[in-house]
Amino acid sequence: MSLLEVKNLCVSFSAKGKEFAVLDNVELSVEQGSIMGIAGVSGAGKTTLLRTLNLLQRPASGKIAFDGVDIMSVSQEELRVLRRRIGVIFQSYNLFRNKTVARNIAFPVIIEGVNKKKALEKAREIAEELELIHRLGSYPSQLSGGEQQRVSIARALITNPRMILLDEPTSALDPFLTSRILRLVKRVNSVHGVTVIIVTHDMSVIKRVCDQIAYLEKGKMVFCGPTHDYFSEYYLSVSHDDHAAEQLEKAKKILAENGGNKLVRLVFWGEAAGEPILWKCSKGLDVSVNILYGEIEEFKHGPFGTLLVATCGKDSAEFLRRLSGNVYKMEVLT
Ligand SMILES: Nc1ncnc2c1ncn2[C@@H]1O[C@H](COP(=O)(O)OP(=O)(O)OP(=O)(O)O)[C@@H](O)[C@H]1O
Ligand SMILES: [Mg+2]
Repeated sequence: MSLLEVKNLCVSFSAKGKEFAVLDNVELSVEQGSIMGIAGVSGAGKTTLLRTLNLLQRPASGKIAFDGVDIMSVSQEELRVLRRRIGVIFQSYNLFRNKTVARNIAFPVIIEGVNKKKALEKAREIAEELELIHRLGSYPSQLSGGEQQRVSIARALITNPRMILLDEPTSALDPFLTSRILRLVKRVNSVHGVTVIIVTHDMSVIKRVCDQIAYLEKGKMVFCGPTHDYFSEYYLSVSHDDHAAEQLEKAKKILAENGGNKLVRLVFWGEAAGEPILWKCSKGLDVSVNILYGEIEEFKHGPFGTLLVATCGKDSAEFLRRLSGNVYKMEVLT
């Protein structure tokens, strides 16, 4: 069941008297309990999309349904209630400089009118879970980037949201803190059942934690679907990744220098990534297989492998026919 449905969403800004579109007919569907990654280069419209999802930015047109409610037609009061169910963690954390960590975390429930003592108790519980308990009396300027990040996550969680929106949560963090935040996001999702939308331009974040990816290009949603489908089908053709494009160029060069009649890209997904498929499919055939590049990565739902191989020999066609039935995706590149 989808928790969030976005249809034909358009957002424009004006500069020097001219209107320009930042989001152009964006469609998005986020399943209840899933983690969705929104990716795209700088300026693609990721933050704008995130801000529009809880109407911090009003769209020019389109529809946003959250938990079956058309949020553009609700009253201000209903919108206020709805926003409590959607926690936002901004790119720049947006902590209150003059408040302690405890008061920063408790703030959303204090303004709702919850008694201060109760609010601070709840803040303490969340701080414990996020390993911030020793920092409750500190001010934001006394915290590291990773700690400020966790305070902003704690503040988003205190209202028990159904969904949280995170804008570039790892962009200022080192690899160790990145892993820690990603583990935290996964735990919030699996233990608390919170649906997560995470904006990032770091593809490794998408691979490690996301079930689905939505890719924005100049305000248009060019892909929205399962992460492994994006990386197996779409990735190379649009060259969103310099590393993958570079490997392909190298493989083509080796092929040109050494001969071989076919360059083939193979994608292995899930359990099949561990099987000796090249050996199995070439048994008894007159075919030689030259591995030009190979990699196995750990995705959220299992191993994801890619191989670039060159083949030659009179049984090449039969070999490729057998292969195509045994791998997740096969693409003959030359
Ligand atoms: N309030 C605004 N007024 C005018 N233009 C804006 C406004 N906010 C964003 N833009 C423009 O909209 C486009 C998309 O911006 P946005 O911040 O959504 O991109 P982004 O994908 O989040 O980029 P980044 O990865 O750098 O954070 C940019 O061209 C930006 O300059
Ligand atoms: Mg942004």
